[in-house]
Amino acid sequence: MERSVMSVSLLVLACLVSSAAAQSAENVKAYMVYLYAQEKDWDMNAAHVYCAPWDADKPYEWRSKYNWTNFGGPNGPIGKDACGKCLQVTNTATGDETIVRIVGTSAASLNLDQPVFDQLDSDGQGQVAGHLVVNYTFVDCDPKPPGPGESNVTSYFSDDYNPIENDWTYPSRAFCTALDGGKPLEWRKKYGWTGYCGKYSSSNPEDICGKCLKVTNTATKDSEIVRIMDTCGLEALVLDKKTGFDPIDTNGEGNAAGHLLVDYEFVDCEDQVNSPRLVFSQ
Ligand SMILES: *[C@@H]1O[C@H](CO)[C@@H](O)[C@H](O)[C@H]1NC(C)=O
Ligand SMILES: *[C@@H]1O[C@H](CO)[C@@H](O)[C@H](O)[C@H]1NC(C)=O
Ligand SMILES: *[C@@H]1O[C@H](CO)[C@@H](O)[C@H](O)[C@H]1NC(C)=O
Repeated sequence: MERSVMSVSLLVLACLVSSAAAQSAENVKAYMVYLYAQEKDWDMNAAHVYCAPWDADKPYEWRSKYNWTNFGGPNGPIGKDACGKCLQVTNTATGDETIVRIVGTSAASLNLDQPVFDQLDSDGQGQVAGHLVVNYTFVDCDPKPPGPGESNVTSYFSDDYNPIENDWTYPSRAFCTALDGGKPLEWRKKYGWTGYCGKYSSSNPEDICGKCLKVTNTATKDSEIVRIMDTCGLEALVLDKKTGFDPIDTNGEGNAAGHLLVDYEFVDCEDQVNSPRLVFSQ
């Protein structure tokens, strides 16, 4: 009896593993298509996309959150089942990466709307060849932050990461290296770095690695966006000295005391592109 229960759960597990493994593909072709999402103000009916009957009534915020793509496999859901889902797409030639939302079907693997095709084609070779060669993986369109944040917590600094000197290479012993160390340079250097050991820390790197924090110096109200790339042992944060700590220590009291008192909140890294942030000197 026990044995059959176990074999059933092993079967379920095997199915889960294989369906998870089937949600991505490597080295597939992505062509360009003119969906005119932006020009049509993200109106799925006006753009005549396949998924319009199911998704055209979704809120504007939802429809305009990501650029659009048509999708045709080979791995993961296709047709109606794929509508509204999100793919992280990486140009294998350049490492350029972005998230797109599926709005239709495709005879090829992907048909990317023109603006996002161009965005991924930073070396122009996609235009030349007529397609990009990409890796894709299905991702959560609305990942939940681990928690809201905390007020008036201590942040120390680290002199050891040295991202600027090391071309933003993740230190081999950092908590997030296995998960994020292989991400493209543009991604790794987009924000200053921090180690995180606050209230919402986790022993699972997937829960916190790569997430962004808005950190505010409570004394001066200077704030910035930083990305979690390590864990830490003390208090809440260990900001990288040059790219995280110094930019908000504008009165020098943090350097004098060896720490800052900060407020922090989890924010969506992608939404922060145009938000005011301090830029460390590179
Ligand atoms: C769509 O792609 C364009 C071109 O890269 C970019 O400027 C824009 O921010 C993207 N829109 C969204 C919603 O991601
Ligand atoms: C694409 O996937 C292949 C096979 O897994 C991998 O070797 C390669 O590094 C990936 N490319 C990028 C840019 O992530
Ligand atoms: C912040 O924390 C410090 C040290 O723990 C404390 O002295 C101060 O009163 C706190 N400030 C606020 C506004 O809670």
